[in-house]
Amino acid sequence: MFEFPMIYKKFIRPLLFLFKPEFVHNFVICMANILPLRKKSYVSDEIDGKNFSFKLGYLNFKNRLGLAAGMDKDAKAIKLWNKLGFSHVEVGTVTPMPQSGNPKPRLFRLVKDEAIINRMGFNNQGPEKVRLNILRAKKKTHNGIIVGVNIGKNMNTPVKNASEDYQKCMEILYDSADYFSLNVSSPNTEGLRDLQSEKYLDELLAKINAKNSELSLKYKIPRRIIFLKVAPDLLNEEIEFIFNTAVKNEIDGIIATNTTIRRENIVCNINEEGGLSGKPLKKLSNEILIKFSVLNSENKLTLIACGGVFDKNNFKEKIKLGAELVQIYTGFVYEGPGIIKKILQ
Ligand SMILES: Cc1cc2nc3c(=O)[nH]c(=O)nc-3n(C[C@H](O)[C@H](O)[C@H](O)COP(=O)(O)O)c2cc1C
Repeated sequence: MFEFPMIYKKFIRPLLFLFKPEFVHNFVICMANILPLRKKSYVSDEIDGKNFSFKLGYLNFKNRLGLAAGMDKDAKAIKLWNKLGFSHVEVGTVTPMPQSGNPKPRLFRLVKDEAIINRMGFNNQGPEKVRLNILRAKKKTHNGIIVGVNIGKNMNTPVKNASEDYQKCMEILYDSADYFSLNVSSPNTEGLRDLQSEKYLDELLAKINAKNSELSLKYKIPRRIIFLKVAPDLLNEEIEFIFNTAVKNEIDGIIATNTTIRRENIVCNINEEGGLSGKPLKKLSNEILIKFSVLNSENKLTLIACGGVFDKNNFKEKIKLGAELVQIYTGFVYEGPGIIKKILQ
């Protein structure tokens, strides 16, 4: 009769949207630890006898859908993401020192556009805390979900010293992260996006590459898989430079994309600074994905798509455009947890 996605949109979402977005966000993360979850996953790994898994080095993704960075910054609800059926969750962004982020309000819904603007500014409890949360959750989920850690720089670290922050995060989290994602694309930390430029990127990635080898020897585990998360506001020559620099420095993949600073295709009259995500981002992030796909004709990198996925068609489109994995954030907020089953089955 009533399907859960419909119940969410008709009853639960209007109720949640009565409250401030950040309050609801914190409430949901908190409830994830209190509410009893059923034993079995809400989504089966096989669909009509077919298995949509994806292998990348030492990682086996049970399906192609993951939760994007920013939803579970401190790795507090991994058990829930596992039960809901995601193959992977990207926790973070984590910075070497805990920080409280930008002043509130810093999260805004654009309901008519099915979009969000955020300028959270990397609020997080720091890598030591996140590491413990991941290790604890991994025991409980029997490694059923891949946990990537998205890392960045502290607000008051000068851009020229940013590589030290990324390396510190790697050092602390190396034995707990299944992969790392280098966030050089959030618009809410001053200067962060400059790390995508010729002035900084090559040096940053070379240092990360060397640190990866060093820590792999120290911990006697395979070199961690590293993704680079890019902005949707890049020019063609910047995309080509990022692609070549990533390949040169043995980066494994590109996550396209983070939020945009542009304000195209929106009807809501909201004049807030920050990154825009959700439906209005889809076209732009798909255009960036296509450009990386064209450069990636020899499959040197794995492409992970992110931006504006709200249903199965959006998901399939990203796969068709060359993505091996797809991540969602805003679609989860507007469609509810039923979106995972709708996409995967
Ligand atoms: C409230 C909020 C916080 C976010 N925080 C982060 C973050 O800390 N690090 C990051 O790399 N991306 C962050 N993102 C970006 C998402 O991971 C994703 O790249 C973007 O929202 C586009 O996907 P979507 O249209 O499915 O939301 C955040 C997005 C939102 C809406």
